[in-house]
Amino acid sequence: MARRYLVTGQEGQVVRSLVERATRYQDIEVLPLGRPALDLSQLDTIESAILGAKPHVIVSAAAYTAVDQAETDEAAAFAINAAAVGEIGRVARSLRIPVVHLSTDYVFDGEKSSAYVETDPVNPLGVYGRSKLDGELLLAASGADHAILRTAWVYSPYGKNFLRTMLRVAETRDNLNVVADQIGNPTSALDIADAVFKVGENLLASDDTRLRGVFHMTGSGDASWADFASEIFAASNKMGGPSANVQPITTAEYPTPAKRPQNSRLNCSKLASEHGVSMPDWQSSTLEVVRRLLSA
Ligand SMILES: NC(=O)c1ccc[n+]([C@@H]2O[C@H](COP(=O)([O-])OP(=O)(O)OC[C@H]3O[C@@H](n4cnc5c(N)ncnc54)[C@H](OP(=O)(O)O)[C@@H]3O)[C@@H](O)[C@H]2O)c1
Repeated sequence: MARRYLVTGQEGQVVRSLVERATRYQDIEVLPLGRPALDLSQLDTIESAILGAKPHVIVSAAAYTAVDQAETDEAAAFAINAAAVGEIGRVARSLRIPVVHLSTDYVFDGEKSSAYVETDPVNPLGVYGRSKLDGELLLAASGADHAILRTAWVYSPYGKNFLRTMLRVAETRDNLNVVADQIGNPTSALDIADAVFKVGENLLASDDTRLRGVFHMTGSGDASWADFASEIFAASNKMGGPSANVQPITTAEYPTPAKRPQNSRLNCSKLASEHGVSMPDWQSSTLEVVRRLLSA
């Protein structure tokens, strides 16, 4: 029997990647559910949406993701990223449905000099990070069967993301200033989709407590935003697409309302050892997404 994955949200880049990648799995069907039927800012829509969908797994992929806007829109960020996740947990627990929840590197302050492991102390720098951390804690407190997957620097052929912005801006500019002193792990939402299915299937297959809890899940290998931009343009240039010269700048030269962690690197060994998931290296996935976008 096919397993139905209810995914929160409709047009988000992870949601669309899950829908796309599900076609590769014979026994998995994805049901994306978003506003108005499932509106995370309206807690009373959550239970009926889940009851109606009758899923085997819930993937909590929707979020208030406007990091800068969240600084002045705290109530909405917390309603969607925290309270709603707690409510998903409450319903999932009562119906005994496992939840795979997406979280973020922004739960950390970026002060560590090496890659973060799951047991490192959290200390979010802004509203978005604090609201996502609250969501993690509320889901855990709900008693639902769950795996929290913290990811970072997400890009895909869909939606709004750094890779698509770089290609668009390079259509009209020869030189681009890109921050070079923040380091992280670019992560393809298509790779996230494969990992989410593997984790979901593992939760369905086994009660092992080692499969539950918090896991880090990013593309393999580190990069600065400037490295990432250079790789995007190198790939695009080879395929005859737009490219630009990358001028490295500092975070101080590119001020934003929300502070970003300087070091966003996540150590993903636990995901590999417990769930058997190793994410591809970020360069090969970047190439894949650039190719997709240029051939569209
Ligand atoms: N993007 C990143 O770099 C990044 C990094 C770390 C972690 N994450 C986490 O990864 C997950 C997926 O991110 P993403 O990049 O796919 O996000 P995204 O492209 O910005 O999509 C956000 C999704 O949330 C949905 N949504 C927002 N408010 C909603 C509401 N009130 N009710 C129902 N749905 C609502 C949107 O709905 P519509 O379908 O109606 O647009 C959309 O589907 C999120 O949990 C995010 O926190 C992302």
